[in-house]
Amino acid sequence: MTHTVAASDGVSLAVHAYTEIDQRRPTILAIHGYPDNHHVWDGVAGNLSGRYNFVAYDVRGIGESSAPDDRSGYRLPQLVSDTGAVIDSLGVDEVHLLAHDWGSIQAWAAVTDESVMGKIASFTSISGPHLNYAGRFLRSARTPRGVADVARQFLASTYIWFFLCPGAPELAIQSRATAKVFEAVARIGRSSTRSQRGAVPRSTHDYLNGLNLYRANMPGPLLSPGEQLPQTRVPVQVLVPRKDYFVSPPLQRFTGAIPDGSRVVTIEGGHWVVNSRPDVIARLTSEWIDLVTEGAAPTGKSSVVTGARDVRGKLALVTGAGSGIGRATAIEFARQGAATVVLVDRDHATANETAEMVRAAGAEAAVYPLDVTDEAAMEDLAAQVHNKHGVVDILVNNAGIAMAGRFLETSSEQWDAIIAVNVRGVINGSRAFGGQMVERGQGGTIINVASAAAFLPSKSMVAYGTTKAAVLALSESMRADLADEGITVTAVCPGFVNTNIAKSTIYAGMSAEAQERARQRADAAYRRRNYTPEAVAKAIVKSVRTGSPVLPIAAESRVGYAMRRISPSLVRLVARFDIRQT
Ligand code: NAI
Repeated sequence: MTHTVAASDGVSLAVHAYTEIDQRRPTILAIHGYPDNHHVWDGVAGNLSGRYNFVAYDVRGIGESSAPDDRSGYRLPQLVSDTGAVIDSLGVDEVHLLAHDWGSIQAWAAVTDESVMGKIASFTSISGPHLNYAGRFLRSARTPRGVADVARQFLASTYIWFFLCPGAPELAIQSRATAKVFEAVARIGRSSTRSQRGAVPRSTHDYLNGLNLYRANMPGPLLSPGEQLPQTRVPVQVLVPRKDYFVSPPLQRFTGAIPDGSRVVTIEGGHWVVNSRPDVIARLTSEWIDLVTEGAAPTGKSSVVTGARDVRGKLALVTGAGSGIGRATAIEFARQGAATVVLVDRDHATANETAEMVRAAGAEAAVYPLDVTDEAAMEDLAAQVHNKHGVVDILVNNAGIAMAGRFLETSSEQWDAIIAVNVRGVINGSRAFGGQMVERGQGGTIINVASAAAFLPSKSMVAYGTTKAAVLALSESMRADLADEGITVTAVCPGFVNTNIAKSTIYAGMSAEAQERARQRADAAYRRRNYTPEAVAKAIVKSVRTGSPVLPIAAESRVGYAMRRISPSLVRLVARFDIRQT
């Protein structure tokens, strides 16, 4: 349903309600950017109109709205007055603003303007800063990193100077060159398998009239942002698309711009994420409205949600968390500020012990007993964890068993058993939790614990090495596959680590007594080597930040990894020695 609203200067604004306005439901008012019209919101509206009144309007000069007589009619105070007039026309007490690009620039002006601020219950901003804040950002560089961020944004903003040139942009638009450039830009960050491909129907008229937004309002506030930045009492959520090359993430995250009681969420996608992942925009908008409505939005200093590469505040899940590397990793996550660590192990008692240690180190802990070989149980676990804790940010597929033995000594059942835990277990975990990460659209980290045995063949550990090589290959291919989703996959390859693994290693083809002797000797050797699981855990947790593809840990693993490339024949020669301690 479309109705028109007369702006204070007589321009008529086309307001599109995607739903009936039901006074009992919250109302979302969406403002589009350049060179879009209200149709950029069609996907988001489709996701939200079941729970909310959803309204979007064509900004003056665009779509079905009429245009002012001259460029001064596009100045921000007039645009703010338009927003106020549209809100008043809806007959509701207040609206939740949702805005993108130039729409977000206008919305920032509205939420910092006393005349409309009171009509706005919350604001979700995507890819459009307050212009004064942007001006302050451009002067904010104090560190080399800051200088690089600002320089990058300056380069990204060159199109603005082009738009300000008289005549040239009009020629580019008439020749359809501009439309082609925008279509190409819209493809950036659209590589997720969940991305929608639909283009927003735009007219030459939208492209041409929209130039006035730039010309009437820029570069003034960018060059002189003023001493006192405009303030707001409206709770703001800033969604920062990681691959936005126009309005760079550092500018969007610029904390000087985020009022207290707000949050910043990094999402996967490019500048037109509104159009490519409407499901993600809808979910986060709805989440923010709920938080604000329930009075649960953060208070005090703005709570900046950390980026994908940060452990602080995150939900981590570790399999095989009852012992050794898994236990140490869970504790290290807690030490580094993870909010919750989910502990999965087939041994409930030892996982509970780890939970106590995780709590003592300052994080929440939850224990789920599970055999990682059981795919259905893993799917069930993923659903439970999702319900109770949300989407896992960092998944560590660590559970594994060791097996020593020559090829023909290893029975078919033993092959099945080790493949089930070491390979299927990793696949099961990655499928169940990786699927949720992709759906959420905010990236994530998957760390698979392989071993130096992945790249160091040995005739004494044929089955183990095979499974770990599979984990390495799986991790490298998964990394390539999930890169488009912002998910980083790392294969961790430790050498000999002093854990319980030596005491539980299965020795194929040996009598029980011989196996026990071999275990004792191997355990003593691991102890002499004394590389601790805590050291491995530190490296694993650090890899969340560095995002390494393959991480050899301990000297023997690093040397082996290098030798594999420098002298593969030497590695093959060493493989022929029996390293079992019989
Ligand atoms: P560990 O034996 O001390 O701990 C393994 C944990 O995984 C135990 O709590 C066990 O109950 C659990 N687990 C085993 N199978 C499971 C299953 N099917 N479902 C659920 N939980 C299960 O061993 P460690 O040394 O901490 O090993 C962890 C990972 O590190 C394994 O994948 C192992 O292959 C790998 N690794 C270990 C090295 C070492 O020298 N300790 C070297 C290189 C890699």
